[in-house]
Amino acid sequence: MKTGLIGAMREEIQLLEHDIENLKVHEYGVRKFYEGTIGGKEVVMVLSGWGKVAAASTATTLINLFQVDQLVFIGLAGSLMENLRIGDIVVADKLIQHDVDLTRLDGLGTINPPFYKKFKFPVRKGAQKRALEAVKQFTYNLHGGQYPEINAKYQPTIHIGAIGTGDQFVASRKGKDKIVDKHPELFCTEMEGAAIAQVAADYRVPCTVIRIISDNADDDAHASFERFLFEDISKISVEIARLMFV
Ligand code: ADE
Repeated sequence: MKTGLIGAMREEIQLLEHDIENLKVHEYGVRKFYEGTIGGKEVVMVLSGWGKVAAASTATTLINLFQVDQLVFIGLAGSLMENLRIGDIVVADKLIQHDVDLTRLDGLGTINPPFYKKFKFPVRKGAQKRALEAVKQFTYNLHGGQYPEINAKYQPTIHIGAIGTGDQFVASRKGKDKIVDKHPELFCTEMEGAAIAQVAADYRVPCTVIRIISDNADDDAHASFERFLFEDISKISVEIARLMFV
């Protein structure tokens, strides 16, 4: 199985480059695609950049030019639920584009084909299970003392649930409440997952998203995100990504 591994930012996955054997670097447009193997398993790693368009463009290239069999996205998210704390990990069972609003088109009758109106994407059970196993192994290793500098700061809880995607960094109580009112089922918010899920669904390729909570999507979100990004994220997300290949 060939995995397309995507991160939005360098800090989220780039360190994994050192683990890729038989590395070949390809350039398509503005992106570099790192192709090779990790533990004998085929991988193509790439940085998408922020937002739904960047994510969709990246996913399309991975599927059509590299013929990957699954897409995996790892990165940060803002919490939308009280019981989700910084450092916690969410494995998506569903991905929803929360910023799409077609309510004013209601009553227009049937729009065909139906995929024109699809903005919610379930994650296949098998893909979800593979992600969950890597995350569980990470927390097991953490409790076993493998990453003492992370263990000193976080005792992550693992959650399985709906992840929301929109083209906005949510950083106010008001902005957060608006999303929660519309989609109370969302665990956290980010900017790429459901776009990748839409491309994956178009081509019937399985897709998983793993998000680590960096902030509470409130007025302190920017400072919290920055702190987490530069201090901790690379250690956590790169380790989880690596565990996807054992
Ligand atoms: N990624 C991490 N934190 C986020 C937030 N608050 N909004 C959108 N994307 C994020």
